[in-house]
Amino acid sequence: MREGKRLLSPSQVAQTAGVAISTLHFYEREGLITAERNAGNQRRYRSDVLRRVAVIRIAQQVGIPLKDIAERLAQLPTDRAPNAREWAQLSGQWRTQLDSRIESLLLLRDSLSACIDCGCLSLKECPLRQPQGG
Ligand code: FES
Repeated sequence: MREGKRLLSPSQVAQTAGVAISTLHFYEREGLITAERNAGNQRRYRSDVLRRVAVIRIAQQVGIPLKDIAERLAQLPTDRAPNAREWAQLSGQWRTQLDSRIESLLLLRDSLSACIDCGCLSLKECPLRQPQGG
């Protein structure tokens, strides 16, 4: 059977992906994943949702905002999971974002270090009181 054709219940997906069923519903509401309905109007997910959930979890772990994840996933085909090439592109873009955040955090840390020995809290002098926070 081809990946994506097998239908899974929310509990099967939740157990296999290591997330709560409520998380799946949340992802669905946010447009990150989609579900079909069976004859009894119960949710059923194509099995390719497992890779999609894995991508979402990794991106969240890295600190990528859900809105950004949704935008990236929306650029991918909806009838299958992201393939290795697409995953490489996504993870490469997120790596760049992560590098940028690390650089900002290092600058903030250095500014905070200066504050530890100062204590002026001056709007004019303290880099952390500036609109950009340093
Ligand atoms: S408290 Fe003085 S520089 Fe931040």
